[in-house]
Amino acid sequence: ASTLAAAAQQSGRYFGTAVAANKLGDSTYVGILNREFDMVTAENEMKMDATEPNQNQFTFSNGDRIVNHARNQGKRVRGHALAWHSQQPGWMQNLSGTSLRNAMLNHVTQVATYYKGKIYAWDVVNEAFADGTSGARRDSNLQRTGNDWIEAAFRAARAADPGAKLCYNDYNTDNWSHAKTQAVYRMVQDFKSRGVPIDCVGFQAHFNSGNPVPSNYHTTLQNFANLGVDVQVTELDIEGSGSSQAQQFQGVTQACLAVSRCTGITVWGIRDSDSWRASGTPLLFDSYGNKKAAYTAVLNAL
Ligand code: XIL
Repeated sequence: ASTLAAAAQQSGRYFGTAVAANKLGDSTYVGILNREFDMVTAENEMKMDATEPNQNQFTFSNGDRIVNHARNQGKRVRGHALAWHSQQPGWMQNLSGTSLRNAMLNHVTQVATYYKGKIYAWDVVNEAFADGTSGARRDSNLQRTGNDWIEAAFRAARAADPGAKLCYNDYNTDNWSHAKTQAVYRMVQDFKSRGVPIDCVGFQAHFNSGNPVPSNYHTTLQNFANLGVDVQVTELDIEGSGSSQAQQFQGVTQACLAVSRCTGITVWGIRDSDSWRASGTPLLFDSYGNKKAAYTAVLNAL
């Protein structure tokens, strides 16, 4: 195969990228997007602040630009994200208690209903666990509405769009021995045992020298899959360059391919210049749109 999407399809998987609506007029960007990827995630346009800037006033125009582009090109869409402590609209940041809980559930319901039938998988809840060794939930206004806010969000999403896979998505959950990984694992295990609707776990996979691809990555993905959920690499980028960067991208790709329920990989941007990172070269295409060594390593590993 000569593209990432075609190579991934050989094993029934997808290869996706984050897309920014304001880059859909950039012909180099769109050329690579259309050629290489068969799954799309809106980088910001479907988040809470973008879709509900004022309470109960929903705007989907930028999300729609991305969803329509993807679907017109025969690509699928990962929805990102229905409930998150970050990128909340100002009005939501100022709510608490029952009014916040109800506003969150209304948001999940309205957004998932609007996009019903067009989303392969939703990141229903993003980044709800704390970093470090506690294994605790992250403190946030949503968490302070009660520990059951996550399952409430998943139940609302299922009711709104029964056809979408429902994912929990987080970062720093790649190393099996880390407390945060174990804590998410126990939540998913608990949800499965109690019938809370959850279908998948997303691993953001933002790696750098201080947080490298762990050698037990395959173990982590397999152990989650063994709970009866799909797993996906959802926001992959790896700081570095040249062959060392390429090797790490290859390792992530091989880890996914070794797990039958790892259904696909998404990179968080197309060219290095599209990355959310302030500096560095963490993606598969250079700033001119040329394929990097990391691209070839991924293509060959798929
Ligand atoms: C980032 C976007 O790439 C940036 O453009 C934005 O300013 C901040 O958010 N984890 C996530 C993504 O789940 O939504 C974040 O995206 C990166 C970290």
